[in-house]
Amino acid sequence: MQLIAYVNGNFLPLDEATIHIEDRGFQFADGVYEVIACLGGNFLDLRPHLERLNHSCREIDIDLPCSIVDLEALVHQIYLKNQLDDAMIYIQVTRGRAPRSHVIDPSMQPSLILTLRALPEPSDEKVEHGATAITLRDFRWGRCDIKSIALLASVMGKQQAVSRGVDEAFWLDDEGHALEGCATNLFAVIDGQLITHPLDHHVLGGIMREMILRQAKASDMTVVERPWKLNEAGISECMMSSTTNALLPVCQIDGKAIGNGSPGPVAHQLRQLVLNELEALRNQ
Ligand code: PDD
Repeated sequence: MQLIAYVNGNFLPLDEATIHIEDRGFQFADGVYEVIACLGGNFLDLRPHLERLNHSCREIDIDLPCSIVDLEALVHQIYLKNQLDDAMIYIQVTRGRAPRSHVIDPSMQPSLILTLRALPEPSDEKVEHGATAITLRDFRWGRCDIKSIALLASVMGKQQAVSRGVDEAFWLDDEGHALEGCATNLFAVIDGQLITHPLDHHVLGGIMREMILRQAKASDMTVVERPWKLNEAGISECMMSSTTNALLPVCQIDGKAIGNGSPGPVAHQLRQLVLNELEALRNQ
């Protein structure tokens, strides 16, 4: 089946969908993106995703090429043009096309592309036995709240993880606080409380992160957003979240077991709550 993409006003077969080589996304990674899940035609938190895209654009002085309402309509349109049930929609906005120069030409029109893929499912093995990870000193840039397409550090981190036979690399700040993964947010259970790094310039405000915190609070768990370390006393579980993985327990980091080395009750409960919410969305 040929997938249909959207590029600057046109719907095209994916193989014919191209961007000019002088697009600043290509030359400078001068752009931002979103990855949105769609279950049976219903989008997960579409508006918050588009608002986060707008935040990313605003922070780097790109005007969204259309209104959020028009973009919402475009997302629905591209979904309908592709015959996928559960899908992952990718939106990318770049500053646009101009002869290569660091200086920004203010007359440039931003580029907008949308593509779609089938939504991946996490392997049963990862759900049953938990994922594994390494830690790396954070060598990304200082504005990780902006969902920038400049993902070289994340690509390198993920590649190090894969080459060491684990699933994810978690970034540590200079003091050793656990921030997030290359493409995931990170949580711990410490003395029974659900802990995650607060929203600041060091982490992305994940859509799944938000859902998990909401579900945890609704289940009367104590949620604390504070800097934390993997070697804190009382740590019993870790878990990671993203649009593409929902929530996965993380049972081994840097070769050391977290808690008893198996998925724990909090990860199990929260994953179930998240899956219930996703199932309800699919059946809307
Ligand atoms: N990445 N942190 C980082 C650095 C990420 O790249 C992502 C998502 C997340 C989780 O955000 P969300 O819950 O909104 O998916 C956290 C996407 C999926 C990607 O780059 O493919």
